Amino acid sequence: MYPFRPGQFAPKNGWYVAGFCEEIGQELLGRTILGEPVVLYRKEDGEAVAVGGRCPHRHFPLAESCRVGDAIQCGYHGITFGPDGKCTKVPSQVHVPKSYTIPTYPLVEHSIWAFIWMGDPEKADPALLPDLAEIGAVGDGIHIMPFFSEFVEGRYQLLNDNLLDLTHLGYLHASSIGNEDNASTPEEITKEDGVLRSRRYIVDADPPPVIEQFHGKGIAKIDRTVGMDFYLPGFHAGIGDMSIAASDPDRPGKVLSRNRVYHAVTPATRSSCHYFFAMSASVGESLEKMKAYLRPVIDEDKFATEEIEKMLAVVGEDPDELLLKSDTNAVYGRRMLQAMMDAEGQGA
Ligand code: FES
Ligand SMILES: [Fe+2]
Repeated sequence: MYPFRPGQFAPKNGWYVAGFCEEIGQELLGRTILGEPVVLYRKEDGEAVAVGGRCPHRHFPLAESCRVGDAIQCGYHGITFGPDGKCTKVPSQVHVPKSYTIPTYPLVEHSIWAFIWMGDPEKADPALLPDLAEIGAVGDGIHIMPFFSEFVEGRYQLLNDNLLDLTHLGYLHASSIGNEDNASTPEEITKEDGVLRSRRYIVDADPPPVIEQFHGKGIAKIDRTVGMDFYLPGFHAGIGDMSIAASDPDRPGKVLSRNRVYHAVTPATRSSCHYFFAMSASVGESLEKMKAYLRPVIDEDKFATEEIEKMLAVVGEDPDELLLKSDTNAVYGRRMLQAMMDAEGQGA
């Protein structure tokens, strides 16, 4: 499936964000992840778990069912499953068939995110999760906040492509966080095992509109670092450091912002995905204000993704693409994901 090899969808052996921890409670929360129905909930002892969301009897959604202690009782004919996936009760008979199980998935709460592993559970190593210090999610004076949990009617790679090509900032987000410098400044790309890093160091630049919004008029030039670290298969940690330009006669190098943004992209169906956006900042910077300011920015990315998905529905799964040098990072990201799928033997 575009932009991957025909028939291929997404890597399974990797940690994907299933939700923000705060979204998972006693209530059953249904989500489609990598084409599979999943139910997320907290057991009575507080532990968050993920199990399959389809009753194997007649396919009733278990998310629309009810809790009986730590178990789920299917809302259709009452067959009950424990958090270990095993059937504990069939109301119509005494014998509980061994084949009556639902899948269970490794789920790890890591800072504000609950990461799920949909592939081979033997390979679900928590050491593969993004390092919280490295992404700036922990540290002295750092506070972090989930902003938006979105369902996007577009395939996940369109959103990954968006995050791997920040030249769109000056156009899709011209009224807020970007300007032409985001496209014209050369990009530095570093490939590591499982991580793809992009940086643009923009010097003596015109400030984008967000600077006037938060720091008033009167800042003529700024220095910016714009970056994105893609932790495959679905987590992007963004960097947006801004300071008054070193060339400024009065306040050279004065820091304006040093916050971090987090975009988690999780495939849902072949033409939809989940998008979890969060931010961290030093104490004193208002995350509430940034949350309100960034709402339309996220809507712009969602809009672009959904419109491209609609376009693909018209033109088909194999559109010609005229790629540019600025697509290098996105192409690397696609290749790395494709390599993960190849390693799993998908489409073999
Ligand atoms: S569909 Fe679930 S018990 Fe029948
Ligand atoms: Fe964007």
